[in-house]
Amino acid sequence: MKLHGTMGIRDNTLYIGGVNTVDLAKKYDTPLYVFDEELIRNNCREYNKYFKVKENNNKIAYAGKAFLPKYMCTLIDEEGLYLDVVSGGELYTAYKANFPMKKILFHGNNKTIDEIKMGVDLGVGVFVVDNFYELDILESLCEEKNMIQDIYFRVTPGIDAHTHKYIKTGQIDSKFGFALTNGDFYMAVERLKKYKNVKLIGIHAHIGSQIFDVEPYEEEVDVMFNLVKKLKEDYDIEIKEVDFGGGIGVYYTESDKPKSIKEFCEGIINKCNEKCKEINIDMPTLILEPGRSLVANAGSTLYSIGSIKEIKDVRTYVSVDGGMTDNIRPSLYQAGYECAIVNKMNSEKSSHKVTIAGKCCESGDILISNTSILDIESKDILITTSTGAYGYSMASNYNKIPKNPVVFVNKGNDKLICKRQSYEELLSLEL
Ligand code: LLP
Repeated sequence: MKLHGTMGIRDNTLYIGGVNTVDLAKKYDTPLYVFDEELIRNNCREYNKYFKVKENNNKIAYAGKAFLPKYMCTLIDEEGLYLDVVSGGELYTAYKANFPMKKILFHGNNKTIDEIKMGVDLGVGVFVVDNFYELDILESLCEEKNMIQDIYFRVTPGIDAHTHKYIKTGQIDSKFGFALTNGDFYMAVERLKKYKNVKLIGIHAHIGSQIFDVEPYEEEVDVMFNLVKKLKEDYDIEIKEVDFGGGIGVYYTESDKPKSIKEFCEGIINKCNEKCKEINIDMPTLILEPGRSLVANAGSTLYSIGSIKEIKDVRTYVSVDGGMTDNIRPSLYQAGYECAIVNKMNSEKSSHKVTIAGKCCESGDILISNTSILDIESKDILITTSTGAYGYSMASNYNKIPKNPVVFVNKGNDKLICKRQSYEELLSLEL
């Protein structure tokens, strides 16, 4: 198992943020999410540094969908980041955490009228307008309020970063954004001429998630900067901000070979410099929206091992006290994870493979298939690493299993930031 951030081994035991993980499991019980605060802050600082946030006034907007308790809003505000929200619920979280509303980008392909109204009333900085329906509602709400709202248009740039060699088809077949190829984008620009209460200041695109190469982003720079030039020349619209979305990949298992934050940022910035010169435009403010790469490796989950079922010549199932309710990614995406026994960190790996199963009534509730760990016994504490992104945020109450608490560790201290859901709270919506 790869040790991330401040993870270290002392006396055969795993420590995170200087805190003994066995003690954490005892204090808060399991399953438990543990976050390495120093690693998240360091990631924020790397992005700020290499994406030239101070130097060039660029912006890093954390994609809150990855993991957004109120404490994360406070943390990223302290680190000088902006925030990307995609729903009334995420917006409300930021509001309750006193996050500056002007530093919010409001995304979403089907914002409801209530959500749009909420965003306008709270004064979010930018609406990333996805479609004609939203554009019309926003204009009329802002007209009623006699105000002007800054917006970006979400562009479907036709770059699919998930195919081996990213391709330029499929532009039209996406539920997100205005396509360039079928003319939708330009129709939206035309519609702006009639509108007085929305102001197009930027363009946005998002090309995928868990991307390991810089090339698709370079391609995105090409498309987006050509568009900046065209909007100036053909429509006399000055695009001041260009947002490249998120998607930077991270390490989950040995087969993942991500580039560093530095390499991604430098690659994108270099391409932007080159492209500006080539087509002779002024450099706009650049925005990135990382979610996963800020928090994934900083989060881990501690479980207690319960039943161990050996089916001779077939498989050994090692069951833990959580599973798909706190980490849906293995069942949903066949995502791979690494694990270890935190109270036996120096044990050699065994050739005997085991399968780590969750506790849900679902055969697909398997966290890790065929992993080798030595000497597992019931009551040992198992850790799965890199669960910080899309773990807590995609957690469910399937089988009426309560949600895990979240603890932040830093410099020898632990701080509970989300408590464990109680059975009472589980029923709190039921009348
Ligand atoms: N910006 C936009 C507009 C997005 O749609 C997303 C992610 C991001 C930024 C952040 O992307 P990231 O840096 O986290 O890759 N549930 C899936 C991931 C879905 C991502 C959706 N959009 C998973 O667990 O892998």
